[in-house]
Amino acid sequence: MLFYQGFWYLSFAFQGIISFQSHFEAHDTDILLASLPKTGTTWLKSLLYAIVNRENISKNHSKHPLHTKNPHELVPQLGLNQPETIAQVPSPRLFATHVPYSSLPESIKTSNCRIVYVCRNPLDTFVSSWHYFLQFEISKETKPDKEMMEEYLIKYSKGVSPYGPHDEHVLEYWKESIQNPTKVLFLEYEGLKKEPKAHLIRLAEFLGFPFSADEKDNVVDEILELCSIKNLKEMEVNKSGQWFPWVENKYLFRKGEVGDWVNHLTPSMAKQFDQMQENLKKAGFSSKYYQILKS
Ligand code: A3P
Repeated sequence: MLFYQGFWYLSFAFQGIISFQSHFEAHDTDILLASLPKTGTTWLKSLLYAIVNRENISKNHSKHPLHTKNPHELVPQLGLNQPETIAQVPSPRLFATHVPYSSLPESIKTSNCRIVYVCRNPLDTFVSSWHYFLQFEISKETKPDKEMMEEYLIKYSKGVSPYGPHDEHVLEYWKESIQNPTKVLFLEYEGLKKEPKAHLIRLAEFLGFPFSADEKDNVVDEILELCSIKNLKEMEVNKSGQWFPWVENKYLFRKGEVGDWVNHLTPSMAKQFDQMQENLKKAGFSSKYYQILKS
């Protein structure tokens, strides 16, 4: 990984990030999803896409593009996807990025485009990213083991993770959402899981695509069902396709549960994250979902 402007980047993706920073021109109507990896990016991509493209969703549920394309194909990742892919996105353009707020291109900050940020309990995020990492065979001789997991955990908890430090990434977008609430909407994965309907309605309002009273009775539920992990996981495109040359779609959908970290980490492993939680607390950030770390 490379350390750049206070954050860690995977070296293979770095050139694309620099090019995104220097060349991307935001439109006022753009919608940008920002997140750390493994915090619910795929879910939010599907929800954003479905909110914006919901004509006849009830009647044509099975014909919706989410049935034939993975959410990452429908909502390109800035800094990762090629400029030609970005150029073909229809208006209102939906994009996503893992780049921290401070390193976003100026045009995103100064235009009227909207940013939706999703965060997730760092322990669940870590466990999710560990499982994701397991799909990539390091080499035939090296099998990921408990020791390797601990090594990765110590690094992650100290901030050395893709697009980390995790806490600083969260804080930058959280602060911006407070200073500029019409520009940045700050969401928590756990909140979305707990009260999906209320969150979807709020999300659509923020994006400027509010649901009508009628839609609140049916379309909201249709979208939630269409984008549920159970549903997306079973779609052929997500069982067999690849959204990036070496990334199989099936690995994007694991359990999608809150608090799964207790099944994988010992209390002493979890304790490594105390400092991160302390940093968040000191900065004034509190989340009822993060208190789980202390238990
Ligand atoms: P787990 O590994 O804990 O199951 P990202 O999309 O940012 O890579 O995040 C991946 C995490 O989101 C994984 O968590 C994955 O299972 C979960 N996820 C994927 N699709 C989801 C959906 N539709 N609803 C809820 N969670 C989802």
